[in-house]
Amino acid sequence: MSKIATLEIDGNKYEFPIIQGTESELGIDIKALRGATGGITTIDPGYKNTGSCESAITFLDGEKGILRYRGYAIEELAEKADFLEVAYLLIFGDLPTAVELEKFSNDIKEESHVDEDMKKILDGFPKSAHPMGVLSSLTNALIAFNPGSVDVASEEAMYDAIVKILSKFPVLAAWTMRKRQGLPLDYGNDSLGYVENLHKMMFARPNRTYRANKIVNDALDKLLILHADHEQNCSTSTVRIVGSSHAGLFASLSAGISALWGPLHGGANQAVIEMLEAIKRDGGDVGKYIAKAKDKNDPFRLMGFGHRVYKNFDPRAKIIKSAAEEVLGDLGIEDPVLDIAKKLAKVALEDEYFVQRKLYPNVDFYSGIIYRALGVPTDMFTVMFALGRLPGWIAQWREMRLRKEPIGRPRQIYIGERNRPFVAVEKRK
Ligand code: CMC
Repeated sequence: MSKIATLEIDGNKYEFPIIQGTESELGIDIKALRGATGGITTIDPGYKNTGSCESAITFLDGEKGILRYRGYAIEELAEKADFLEVAYLLIFGDLPTAVELEKFSNDIKEESHVDEDMKKILDGFPKSAHPMGVLSSLTNALIAFNPGSVDVASEEAMYDAIVKILSKFPVLAAWTMRKRQGLPLDYGNDSLGYVENLHKMMFARPNRTYRANKIVNDALDKLLILHADHEQNCSTSTVRIVGSSHAGLFASLSAGISALWGPLHGGANQAVIEMLEAIKRDGGDVGKYIAKAKDKNDPFRLMGFGHRVYKNFDPRAKIIKSAAEEVLGDLGIEDPVLDIAKKLAKVALEDEYFVQRKLYPNVDFYSGIIYRALGVPTDMFTVMFALGRLPGWIAQWREMRLRKEPIGRPRQIYIGERNRPFVAVEKRK
C-alpha cells in the first residue's frame, strides 16, 4: 500500500505521496507543495535532506558503508573489472559483452586526437596555473572544436559525444601536467589500453622507450574505478544542474571539474598530503593536529576525514588503505607519510570528538599516498579524481537528459531589505 505524509500548517492539512526506491529508501514527494499551500517552500541549505532526482546509477548506504554501481558492489568491481568496463556499466546500465567492450574501446581510440590548435590555448596558461583550472578551461574549449549541441534524442549522437570526451579528456589531463613540467606533449599509443595509455601520456620521456608497469597501471585502474561515481555529490549535482539548462555535455563537465576542485570535495586529496607533510615537518606530533581539528576557534579540519553521507565507514577508503600498503610494498617505497596517516587515523578513530560526529577516513585520506608512490605530482591529484569521475558525470548527465528533467532552479527564503524608495546619488548619506 502506498504511504502518505501529512503536513499541517495553521490547522490546514496537506497530503503528499511517499515514493519508495528499489532499496526501500523513502522520499516525500513535495512536487505539489507550493501549489497546494499557496507558495510555501522548504528550506534545506546544502541539500542535506533533499533528493534532487530519481536515479538508477549508484546506490549508497552511508550507515552500512555500501556503495554499488548499477547494482554491483564496489569491492567486486575494484577487484574484477577494469575502468573501461565500469565506465560502460555506469553510462549504459549493464556490463558490456566482450564484443561491446571491444567496440567501445576501439571507438574511444579512434577519437584520441585533439585538435593541434588546442595547444595554443594550453600555451596561453602560465606554468604556475593550477591543473584543475586548466583542465576545466580546456574541457570547455573543446566545444569550440566540436561545435553543435548533442542531439539527445539520437542514441548515436549521444554515443559519439560520450566516446569523444572519454577519449580526449585523458589527453587534456596529461597535457596539462606535461606543460607544467616543461615536457613535450605526448600523443599516446593506441596499442595500449585506456589506463596504460593515460599513464604513457603522463609519464613517457621523450628520450626513453616507454615501458608499462603492471603494478602501477593496476593501481591506477583501481583508483579510477573507486572514484567513478558517487551519486548526487557537489560536482555531479553541478553537472546535472548545468546540463538541465540544455547546456551541452562538455560545458556541463567543465562546470563539474570546477566544483570538484574545492578542498571540501575532490581537492581534499591534495589537501591531505599537504596536511600530512606539514605534520611531518612539524615533528610528527599527531595529537597537536587532532587538538587543532577539535578546536572550534581554529578553522583547521582534518582533511580526508568525514563525509556527508558515510556515517560508519567509507568502503572506498577501506579498499584504498590496503591498496596503498600493497602498492608501496610492491614498488619497494617507504613513505613516512603513510605512517603518519595511519597514526592519525588510529588516534582520531578512538577520539570522542570524531566518534560522536561519526567522522571516518574518506576516499581521499589514502589516495594521495598511492598517487605519490606512482609519481603523480601533488597538484595533479584532483585531476586524477576527475579522470575517474568522468564516466559518472557522463552517466548522470545522460540520465538527466533522457528522463527529460526540468531545469534546476531552487527556491529561497528572502531575508534582505524590504521595498525601499530610490535615493539620488547626491542625496545619499
Ligand atoms: N575535521 C574536524 N571536524 C570535522 C570534520 C573534519 N574533517 N568534518 C566535519 N567535522 C565536524 C564539524 O565541525 C561539525 O562539528 P559540530 O557539529 O560540532 O559543528 C560536524 O563534524 C559535522 O560537520 P559538517 O561540516 O556539518 O558535515 P558536512 O556533512 O556538511 O561536511 C565534509 C562533510 C566532507 C565537507 C566535512 O566532513 C569536511 O570538511 N571534511 C574534510 C574535507 C574532506 O575530506 N573532504 C572530502 C570528502 S570525500 C571526497 C568527495 O567525495 O568529495
